[in-house]
Amino acid sequence: MQNKFKRRRFIKNAAALAALVGLPGKNSFAKAETDDLLDAACRSLPAKGKPVFGLKVPPIKQVGVGIIGLGNRGYEHARLINAVGLEKTKLVAICDIRPEIAKRSADFLKENGGQEPQVYSGKADDWKQLCQRDDIDLVIIATHWDEHVPMALYAMQQGKHVALEVPAALTIEECWKLVNTAEETQRNCMMLENVCYGNEELWLLNMVEKGIFGTLTYAECAYIHDLRELLFSKTYYYKQWRTYHILERDGNLYPTHGLGPVAQYMGVGRGDRFDFLVSMSSLQAGMDAHSDTVEPDNDFYKKKGFKHGDINNCLIKTDKGRSILLQHDVVSCRPYNRINMLTGTKAFHKGYPSKLSINGHAHGFLSDDDYKTYREMHAHPLWEKLQKLAEKNGGHGGMDFVMLWRMIDCFNRGLPLDMDVYDAAAWSVVTPLSELSVQLGSVPVRFPDFTRGGWQEERKLGVMAG
Ligand SMILES: NC(=O)c1ccc[n+]([C@@H]2O[C@H](COP(=O)([O-])OP(=O)(O)OC[C@H]3O[C@@H](n4cnc5c(N)ncnc54)[C@H](O)[C@@H]3O)[C@@H](O)[C@H]2O)c1
Repeated sequence: MQNKFKRRRFIKNAAALAALVGLPGKNSFAKAETDDLLDAACRSLPAKGKPVFGLKVPPIKQVGVGIIGLGNRGYEHARLINAVGLEKTKLVAICDIRPEIAKRSADFLKENGGQEPQVYSGKADDWKQLCQRDDIDLVIIATHWDEHVPMALYAMQQGKHVALEVPAALTIEECWKLVNTAEETQRNCMMLENVCYGNEELWLLNMVEKGIFGTLTYAECAYIHDLRELLFSKTYYYKQWRTYHILERDGNLYPTHGLGPVAQYMGVGRGDRFDFLVSMSSLQAGMDAHSDTVEPDNDFYKKKGFKHGDINNCLIKTDKGRSILLQHDVVSCRPYNRINMLTGTKAFHKGYPSKLSINGHAHGFLSDDDYKTYREMHAHPLWEKLQKLAEKNGGHGGMDFVMLWRMIDCFNRGLPLDMDVYDAAAWSVVTPLSELSVQLGSVPVRFPDFTRGGWQEERKLGVMAG
């Protein structure tokens, strides 16, 4: 099975490049080939349906939900959808290829409120039966990365709305497939970027909207999380799927937790867009070194030659001229950090810990009392409303609960979802674009415009409209 992951990964990478310009996957390219690759990477594909900006569907009183993949993340989704409550949503069916993992969620639901969704388990394509059910409105996909897009496409083709885990897609081609299928079927396809619902992030977004930051110029953001123990665990990830990505790919493999909130502050897709990026990876050493420390019966025992440089930096330029430094580091002992740094003409913020600086105050960050005043004065209404429930139900400090509650509430009220398929594609495509940039020697790579020009309209984010 491990070899299956490896073979599929190779095929996907080679196919992604070959599909773009008809070349086999390889490591050095003549100038003309490089130019062709870069042109192909940002080329728009023909539309197959109508745009889905602000897509509205009739209100759904009780949203029927199916979940595919009940591992670390999917179990949490089952728990939190249950916590949102039966008056708003019902878990109709759940599916995991591993029976014991599906049973874990089924048992939890039965013991905590008595929901008894239909369980699908055992075969690799059982999830299709879940997608075919008439009583499901929304399919949540929380499997490993390779399965996100095939499952999402099939679910939309069965008339279901889709909420899928991060990153939504692995290749440029997959991003286009999500966009084209959402447009063709007129279904929602929302990436579950939970960090966009963090208390700190929504507070910052609220202040940006109120003009407190003035004109935004620059941001720094990241996913810095030492995952080495988990990556080498034989049981944490299903068949160690994530480790194979680190073995075979070099770039920013997990961009959206840091970048999603920044994209929202900057109105990406709603007046601005990512224009191009350059990406550079450091030396790879962390995985090679850690492989010496694991048990001999581990598939990665003394494994050498991981492709993924330990720290990847991307610099992204937006159409309006803003720039963003985005980091990825999952293999060094640097403490957890998403940075969440934002610079405007009137204010500056940095996270970990959160500190705010405002024009007109003395040099340096606001005092604790002044900071508290800003937090209270500009708290986002969603957090004011859900604070107690978020604290009770948790999920990364409550942001997971807030995200799921809000998504279900939008369906209940017939409102457009906060994040659309264009956001999912624009944030996820950073991975294949960064791989391309790294592979070609850190050259600038232009973003495809998944909105086909629609980004130029300054649309208000749903979560700011109420
Ligand atoms: N947003 C967040 O904060 C966050 C946190 C963790 C993980 N994630 C994302 O969630 C996803 C899952 O990560 P995870 O840590 O839960 O991994 P995991 O390995 O624990 O879970 C994946 C599950 O998918 C199941 N599965 C595999 N093939 C299947 C199939 N054909 N049919 C049905 N089920 C199948 C596996 O049995 C496993 O239980 C990833 O995309 C990851 O990036 C997001």
